[in-house]
Amino acid sequence: MRTVDLIEKKRDGGELSTEEISYLINGYVSGKIPDYQIAALAMAIYYQGMSIGEIHDLTTDMVASGEQYDLSEISGVKVDKHSTGGVGDKVTIILMPLVASFGVPVAKMSGRGLGHTGGTIDKLESIKGYQVERSKEEFIQQVKDIGISLIGQSEHLVKADKLLYALRDVTATVDSIPLIASSVMSKKIAAGADKILLDVTVGQGAFMKNMSDAEKLSETMVALGHEVNRETIAVITDMSQPLGKAIGNRLEITEAIQIMQGKGREDITDFICELAEILLDLAQVEASQEEIRQHLVGGKALAKFEELIQAQGGDLTDLYRHSSAPVVTDIYAHKTGYIKELPAMAFGKFAMQLGAGRATKSDSLNYETGIVFEKKVGDSVAQGDLIAKVYSQEILSEKMLTEFEKNVIIDSECKETTEILKIIR
Ligand code: URA
Repeated sequence: MRTVDLIEKKRDGGELSTEEISYLINGYVSGKIPDYQIAALAMAIYYQGMSIGEIHDLTTDMVASGEQYDLSEISGVKVDKHSTGGVGDKVTIILMPLVASFGVPVAKMSGRGLGHTGGTIDKLESIKGYQVERSKEEFIQQVKDIGISLIGQSEHLVKADKLLYALRDVTATVDSIPLIASSVMSKKIAAGADKILLDVTVGQGAFMKNMSDAEKLSETMVALGHEVNRETIAVITDMSQPLGKAIGNRLEITEAIQIMQGKGREDITDFICELAEILLDLAQVEASQEEIRQHLVGGKALAKFEELIQAQGGDLTDLYRHSSAPVVTDIYAHKTGYIKELPAMAFGKFAMQLGAGRATKSDSLNYETGIVFEKKVGDSVAQGDLIAKVYSQEILSEKMLTEFEKNVIIDSECKETTEILKIIR
């Protein structure tokens, strides 16, 4: 087999065989096929797509490219959750302790943020002492001991995805349905949970810009899960505006705590309760919305979160510390009306410029900076009302202030918003 022939085949719309896909993935992981050929292949896939058979083969080879976790020594139905990426997305930090507070074992690996999107692991690392690295044995033991562990992606899991994702990131091939589906599902399958909840974000701040693509991606990933007997549900959620109030690592931890203290916005509190109901149902635990809400706002989820932080070396005093960013700038409404748009992509990039996110993989983060919105899409505002607080290291330039203000769109009509747009089983 010659790699160039396979690139040509895909470029011209052909279907790669099981053997051809194995040759490409094994060759890439072993270093026999160079980056530039796989980059060309990724672009060919981006334009030509893949059949469900090809995506299945690609996912299978990616799973086999690294270590696989066997969680069978943990009793109970193990659940996992994955988001395809968002701005202000602190769902995992709240949802996983919440379901663990019902006795559902949570063994979860999360990723770091890149570009305008944030990552759970960076947010947890803003808590002094929190260790995101654990050996496989320690990871499993902690789930047995306290019912939850939240760590960074193991170096040894799905080696093909590590290489491929970094390559896709610099070759404009991230937002491809076959490549996202195989990337997400290979990690979920290799991580060993029995049931999987996928949060497929859609909208201006997500990889999937429209509902039809989000549905296609969801259906593909659900099918991949079912093929390997992992019940999988995809929830398509809105990412046209940032999720919740805060963007930025420390600020999102603070918002997560506020939600777990019953002091969060109603919309994100309801959203977490709805996701918890789906996840608990997958884990075969019966709980009403009232019981779930009680666990969330009544202290049980927070107690489990504190247990998690302590077990992973985090400092509980630091957990309750507010952002120490030296400059806080208030942004006020320039007119009266309703917030019509707060574009997630623009504010994700704005937070990245403040140091809350990384433009490239090697950038270091400022955990303290970011944005807290006091108003969200659909909220009414009077001229001069506080819209947001910007936490920065330095005084904001006129250019930054103008950029922020131009992205707060106020209109005379009230816009309805919903977090969950569709559920695909
Ligand atoms: N999240 C992933 O894990 N992989 C992708 O390709 C995109 C989002």
